[in-house]
Amino acid sequence: MSAGLDKCFSPARLNGLELRNRVIKAATFEGMCPGGVPSERLYDHHRGVAEGGIGMTTLAYCAVEADGRVKSDMMHMHEGVRPHLERLAREVHEAGCALSGQMGHCGNFSQNDKFQGKRPLGPSRMLNMGGIPVGLPFAGAMTHADIDRMVGLFRDAGAFMKSVGFDAVEIHFGHGYGLSQFISPKTNKRKDEYGGSLVNRMRLPLRVLEAVREAVGDDFPILGKIGLTDGVKGGLQIDEAIEVAGLLDEGGIDALIPSGGTSSMNPMLLFRGDSLMDGLLAQEKNPLMRLALRAVGPRLFRDYPYHELYFQDGAKRVRDRIKRAKLVYIGGVSTLESLETAMQEFDFVQMGRAIWKDPAFVNHAQENPYYKNNCNHCNICASLIGHPDGVRCVLNQPI
Ligand SMILES: Cc1cc2nc3c(=O)[nH]c(=O)nc-3n(C[C@H](O)[C@H](O)[C@H](O)COP(=O)(O)O)c2cc1C
Repeated sequence: MSAGLDKCFSPARLNGLELRNRVIKAATFEGMCPGGVPSERLYDHHRGVAEGGIGMTTLAYCAVEADGRVKSDMMHMHEGVRPHLERLAREVHEAGCALSGQMGHCGNFSQNDKFQGKRPLGPSRMLNMGGIPVGLPFAGAMTHADIDRMVGLFRDAGAFMKSVGFDAVEIHFGHGYGLSQFISPKTNKRKDEYGGSLVNRMRLPLRVLEAVREAVGDDFPILGKIGLTDGVKGGLQIDEAIEVAGLLDEGGIDALIPSGGTSSMNPMLLFRGDSLMDGLLAQEKNPLMRLALRAVGPRLFRDYPYHELYFQDGAKRVRDRIKRAKLVYIGGVSTLESLETAMQEFDFVQMGRAIWKDPAFVNHAQENPYYKNNCNHCNICASLIGHPDGVRCVLNQPI
């Protein structure tokens, strides 16, 4: 085995946690929590990934409150899901794998069918990007009391997740979600100490990091997913993103995962490859929604051809800026060559689509030097996040 793969498949430490190897399943929303409660498919999925040899799997989108979701078929962190999460942690641990959970809040595009007219809140009053046509058309601006409350929600979610058996937490600072709405100058137009300069726009994210650290303790790993660029005019750009990474590093984060794009303004930047539009059109039954999708689709789902390691240059800049935190590479790893290259530059690798294609990627790659994953980046998996049966790889299980 090459030195790169040898490093990849050897045990490694992330703060106080020992992982059996350096491959982490990326947070990929599973769509397997009907009514906000895990279905058997969610356990099967993560147990399968754990049995497939990966070092740590990540439960996607653990909303820090019920109102921080885009629909009620997403889980939020509260006592009602304790037995489910304890079971998930137990099953993942039995397979020798660690469990992380991605903590997030949708901020200005939060909506769900149980909202009963509640207005989503973000840094500034603006169009509710996710709220058309379901929620209220405008999101409101958070007051100082709302901001303090948000810090408390992340703190409580961190304490809860540790108490049910998670081995790590991943704070979502990217992809246009609530905390990145504060970081991005596109969505943060505040005039107070939470808006304006980057230091001000980072005030809430850094308070959240501090609160989660207080809740989980010094030796518990906290990862953070960040954006390298929003990919929109007036949004976060790479030079500021590097400073975001530096501030989180100084704030005591254990690992950074540099991604990019935003799910409501430029989603293809984070995926690359085939447009999500075809998959979404195939599922949409409402003729008006189909029409709307055809109208906005080409502008929303921009063309970014797929190539392996597409965030490599940005990730190297982050790596060069940070002093303490580990760098977890994400974005376009599906071959052994890419794993090797990533291991020459970075500490860990997160993989999303390739693991949906083959949950036993790690075991297979260790057994077979000619292993091929064959994910073709059709991105139909990503278009299925709202599907009633949840996400799947259609190469394995046609719809
Ligand atoms: C089905 C699916 C769901 C996703 N859901 C999330 C999510 O909940 N949170 C997140 O940060 N990224 C999400 N992503 C993005 C991935 O974490 C990752 O950034 C992206 O797929 C690129 O990595 P890859 O090339 O290894 O797939 C999702 C991706 C897919 C394919």
